[in-house]
Amino acid sequence: MRRKLLLGNWKMNKTPSEAKAFASEIKPLAKEAKSHKIDIGVCVPAVDLEGVKKILKKSMIVGAENVHYLPSGAYTGEVSIPMLKDLGINVSLVGHSERREYDNETSEKCNLKILALLENDMIPVYCCGESLETYEAGKTKAFVKEQIVTGLKDVKKEDASKIVIAYEPIWSIGTGKNASKEIAEDVCKYIRKIIRELYDTKTANRVRILYGGSVKPNNIKDYLSEKDVDGALVGGASLKADSFQELLRNIE
Ligand code: PGA
Repeated sequence: MRRKLLLGNWKMNKTPSEAKAFASEIKPLAKEAKSHKIDIGVCVPAVDLEGVKKILKKSMIVGAENVHYLPSGAYTGEVSIPMLKDLGINVSLVGHSERREYDNETSEKCNLKILALLENDMIPVYCCGESLETYEAGKTKAFVKEQIVTGLKDVKKEDASKIVIAYEPIWSIGTGKNASKEIAEDVCKYIRKIIRELYDTKTANRVRILYGGSVKPNNIKDYLSEKDVDGALVGGASLKADSFQELLRNIE
């Protein structure tokens, strides 16, 4: 049985002071989530990680939004896996569409990050999803397949089930134009099929696949009611404590 996962993605929001205040506000939700067997957490800007982790400790997942695949070196502005580990962080988003679009993050680069994270006992949350143009051309599945196959290249079977995959159609992110639960299920189910083909049924049944893109308190339950949607990656609606709490309560 796959545990449900609710993951916030703050993007470039919240100063360290705001982040700490927010972490204190949402901390009580950890207990509630646990009693409903739901994993809950937030992926936050690098400068917020330390403060948020100190407050939430192990009660919730505290993840990075990005990480470099090399342990150190001349890469100005980057954050390494050892830096995250030193703070007790063991989750990172990889390949969010905004990074793919604005920072030239290719699936090949994502693959290096995924391999490095797994090698360091960390959990990659690998984001995939198509543009509106690709969606309208009816090429969603071929596009997503390429992202998954390339992103998971050389990932060993025993590691594959640790990866979380987030299907986020770009046209639904931050637009309020969310994909229907049927579309979400169709693509998440297809992603599970790809994992089955790459590995085996057991692995496919273990991998958690999230939907993301304009998930709100009033629609999260619909997505989570689908068989292959194991949780949600939520941007905008995760930024306010009351809304984050509502997201959780609506899937309990
Ligand atoms: P959104 O963002 O919920 O604001 O659409 C989701 C995401 O980009 O992860």
